[in-house]
Amino acid sequence: MTTRTLGLIGSGMIGSALAGLAVASGLNVVVSNSRAPETLAELVAGLGDGARAATPEEAARSGDLVVATIPLKNYARLPAEALAGKIVIDTMNYYPERDGRLASLDAGETTSTELVQRHLADSRVVKAFNNIDFRRLATSARPAGAADRSALPIAGDDPAAKEEVARLLDVLGYGAVDIGTLADSWRSEPDTPVYVQPYLAERPEGLSQDETHRWFFETPGVPVSAAQVKELADQAVRRPAGSAANLSRD
Ligand SMILES: NC(=O)c1ccc[n+]([C@@H]2O[C@H](COP(=O)([O-])OP(=O)(O)OC[C@H]3O[C@@H](n4cnc5c(N)ncnc54)[C@H](OP(=O)(O)O)[C@@H]3O)[C@@H](O)[C@H]2O)c1
Repeated sequence: MTTRTLGLIGSGMIGSALAGLAVASGLNVVVSNSRAPETLAELVAGLGDGARAATPEEAARSGDLVVATIPLKNYARLPAEALAGKIVIDTMNYYPERDGRLASLDAGETTSTELVQRHLADSRVVKAFNNIDFRRLATSARPAGAADRSALPIAGDDPAAKEEVARLLDVLGYGAVDIGTLADSWRSEPDTPVYVQPYLAERPEGLSQDETHRWFFETPGVPVSAAQVKELADQAVRRPAGSAANLSRD
């Protein structure tokens, strides 16, 4: 299957960045949020031809591939029926201060994407795009073969679904590194070596709040190769989920 239409459930920072990359790559996108499609008029106008807004159910049904990119606390509201039979990309991360405490994650019994897979029992869920900040996601995409192309980890239980997601990453401007199953997906979660920091230049010290904001938006990303992604994911040590208190929230 070749992805022609990307459905997006959630059109915030990550959803908008992915929609922009998809339209720039010649795909159609259907964006949605928790409110009415009209509230996405500005985003759709900015994306141009190839973009439209719909309800989450419509975005789910329209997508050859669908991205679930909402706060994890709302994962049980993802439209399971409309997503049945689909490959669903999960970008979500667990941040207890935003998402509330989820006991099975705190106990390390499961990963957040396993929870999502359990809810979407008739979908094939692949974790991707969760370990890069939205600004670098938008600006670090490069065509295949570019020397400064970055790779991103992907994890999932279904090899064919992972291949499909890797093809999408390739089209959008990223290499993919298979880091294992959904049970292994903690290796790219917050507070692991491959999470966010490698793609981001070191922040100069002593910046004011305004300067930090400008630096965040303007600073180019750091390319991270497939070999580096593999090495960083291999180095990960499992800690209690949601313990990344000293990292900025993404
Ligand atoms: N920001 C980053 O750099 C980054 C990086 C990697 C991963 N992530 C993860 O990716 C996910 C999305 O992050 P974000 O920063 O893009 O969040 P965000 O900017 O807060 O956007 C969240 C989006 O989800 C929508 N939404 C919330 N509940 C929904 C529901 N039940 N049904 C449909 N849409 C719903 C919101 O719609 P409304 O506006 O209508 O509420 C909004 O469009 C999070 O889990 C986050 O941890 C973020």
